Amino acid sequence: MSLERLDWPLLTARLTLRPARVSDAAEIWAWQQLPEVIQWMARQPPSLEAFTGHWVKHLDQTLVVGQGGRLIGSAKIAVQNAWAQEEVITQAAGAEAEIGWALDPSVHGQGYGTELAVSLLASCFDGLGLHRVVGICFADNAASARVMEKAGMRREAHFRSDSLHRDGRWYDTYSYAMLAAEWAQRRASGS
Ligand SMILES: CC(C)(COP(=O)(O)OP(=O)(O)OC[C@H]1O[C@@H](n2cnc3c(N)ncnc32)[C@H](O)[C@@H]1OP(=O)(O)O)[C@@H](O)C(=O)NCCC(=O)NCCS
Repeated sequence: MSLERLDWPLLTARLTLRPARVSDAAEIWAWQQLPEVIQWMARQPPSLEAFTGHWVKHLDQTLVVGQGGRLIGSAKIAVQNAWAQEEVITQAAGAEAEIGWALDPSVHGQGYGTELAVSLLASCFDGLGLHRVVGICFADNAASARVMEKAGMRREAHFRSDSLHRDGRWYDTYSYAMLAAEWAQRRASGS
């Protein structure tokens, strides 16, 4: 399922989201390479060139977040197939998505992460009509876990020592999720 189906740009109270372009890579890399961000990211490219190489391969699932005339964030909506029994497999195709985010450390702690997460959930449920949205993080990444909780996602799993960090240690991870029905209920209750 293509993110082109969404009505771009997406506007929140303070943020503008749009699909990523190749030309955004340098502006994002300028802050994404900082230790407080890259420590939690899946890969640590050694250079802008390497980062750009990865960036262009994932443009179809990457969004950039604008605020005040600059790009303060990047986000992911990776639509994927839900597991299903064979007879109904086509009905589960593209039924869920994994979401993710990174923000420029200069804007951390001002509620942008939560605002972004809620906007991604709205895109997935209201825009794309998905059944389920998931998010994963290292258990030590308190900010990301808290963002998912504040956005209304449920912690479904706490995996013990399942993920090897590039610092050489095995870390716990959390898996969060929200269902379309939970999103609708949250919307109906005004939260
Ligand atoms: C995760 C991230 C996007 C959060 O962005 P943010 O704009 O700072 O988040 P918010 O301001 O919406 O804060 C959300 C909550 O997290 C809490 N929080 C933020 N940083 C925290 C930290 N370092 N430790 C503990 N809690 C933290 C906030 O206090 C807030 O909770 P509260 O309202 O109950 O006090 C940002 O920290 C980031 O880009 N981190 C690096 C990249 C990353 O970890 N990506 C996710 C990989 S899974």
